[in-house]
Amino acid sequence: MTTIAESRPVALKEAVYQRCLNIDCGATYGVSEVRVKCGVCGDLLDVAYDWSRLPTPKRLVDLEGMWSKRHEPLRFSGVWRFHELLPFAPANRVITVGEGQTLLQQADFVSRYVGLRPGQLYLQYEGMNPSGSFKDNGMCAAFTHAHMVGAKRAACASTGNTSASLAMYCAVTQLMKAIIFIGTGKISYGKLSQALEYGALTVQIAGDFDDAMARVQEISKELGIYLVNSVNPFRLEGQKTVMFRVLEALRWEVPDWIVVPGGNLGNSSAFGKAFMELKELGLISRVPRLAVINAAGADTLDVLFNQRNLRWNRGRPRMETACWYYDELDRNKTKADTIASAIEINRPVNLKKCLRALDVCDGVVRKVSDQEILDAKAQVGAGGIGCEPASAASVAGAKLLRQQGVIGYEDRVVCILTGHQLKDPTATVAYHTTDQDKFEEVLGSRGVTRASYANRAIAVPNNVEAIIKAIQLYS
Ligand code: F0G
Repeated sequence: MTTIAESRPVALKEAVYQRCLNIDCGATYGVSEVRVKCGVCGDLLDVAYDWSRLPTPKRLVDLEGMWSKRHEPLRFSGVWRFHELLPFAPANRVITVGEGQTLLQQADFVSRYVGLRPGQLYLQYEGMNPSGSFKDNGMCAAFTHAHMVGAKRAACASTGNTSASLAMYCAVTQLMKAIIFIGTGKISYGKLSQALEYGALTVQIAGDFDDAMARVQEISKELGIYLVNSVNPFRLEGQKTVMFRVLEALRWEVPDWIVVPGGNLGNSSAFGKAFMELKELGLISRVPRLAVINAAGADTLDVLFNQRNLRWNRGRPRMETACWYYDELDRNKTKADTIASAIEINRPVNLKKCLRALDVCDGVVRKVSDQEILDAKAQVGAGGIGCEPASAASVAGAKLLRQQGVIGYEDRVVCILTGHQLKDPTATVAYHTTDQDKFEEVLGSRGVTRASYANRAIAVPNNVEAIIKAIQLYS
């Protein structure tokens, strides 16, 4: 198990600072420095706190009182409501559009599908955020930091949701211009339409997300544009609050499992940091187990963790294992490919932080096929909560872990539904279609052979009698 104290002690001038993740480096930077990498060794950065010099809650239950102050912008936000647990910005400087008003839903219909005792499965529906995905949790934090340091332009590479979120914050606040980098043909229309309508400068690169991610880092450095991808440590501070809300909804009881889709691995990294800090602050006595679920067509974490035994290793993971694997991908010209386009990522930028989260939370990693993802998605939908394909990876992963006996029948499980159903209607409509050619065109190439939970429209003649007959037959 990892604790923050394991990191090399640093001379602290400020109670809040940025610190290199590499424990053999441990370089620190002020909170108002803009960087996404350590200037000494190039590793990722963490936002770090000297909690002893900050006002922290004595008990988590004390945070519930913040609801009664929701007329204040700080407490209205489901992120900033927990400001004491991410206190990097002065309270009067935070930016909010009312993100994080999301719900933990007990989902008995889906629990049957997953194979859990009724009452034990919960879905944390982050699709209810203003831009329709969990990204707003992190974006309000990064955006706040960007504004604190006087940024006028902000950029990201995106499979769609990050760009929709950034574009929205820029449009609502009119404080910055959004510049988004997307891969060609890789972004769902729902997400693209948001970025376009919110006025983002949209740069379509002849490549995939991994290419866009590499280019945006180079270009934002060159042009001095503020980068809001999850390599930005402030993003992850906001995403910690998804876990705070889960705990709050469970009356501060820690569940047995948190199951989350893994793409760029920002969420899993943030969740691990949240639990690490809550434990360090003595606010929880145990941490949940974490399951990170890859799509089979974008399974870097699964390969590295399960086949090549890459571990946090007390802060010294053998990252060369990842470099060798990326070389292999290049040699074999392997590109990520999954219907869950949001997690179609082969080079997750937060890999190292995710390893730490897996260590903190005694985590497991699994991959699920596009077939399993779409079946799980259809079941989530049939239970009344729509989600996009990537989100359903969490439910498909929970089902798999249940079948493998890793998750027990009685375990209390929280699956994170990361994005709204309407983000990617193409996959949904293709799954439920009666048109076999459409099914083949969208899903066939991805190894999806059946739609076991399809709810197909019925075609009827334009005739009252025939319509009544059909309704009576099918209802
Ligand atoms: N689910 C959805 C709906 C997403 O949009 C993403 C990431 C993930 C899961 C993966 O989360 O990166 O924290 O592991 N979407 C990014 C984007 C990459 O550009 O919108 P992660």
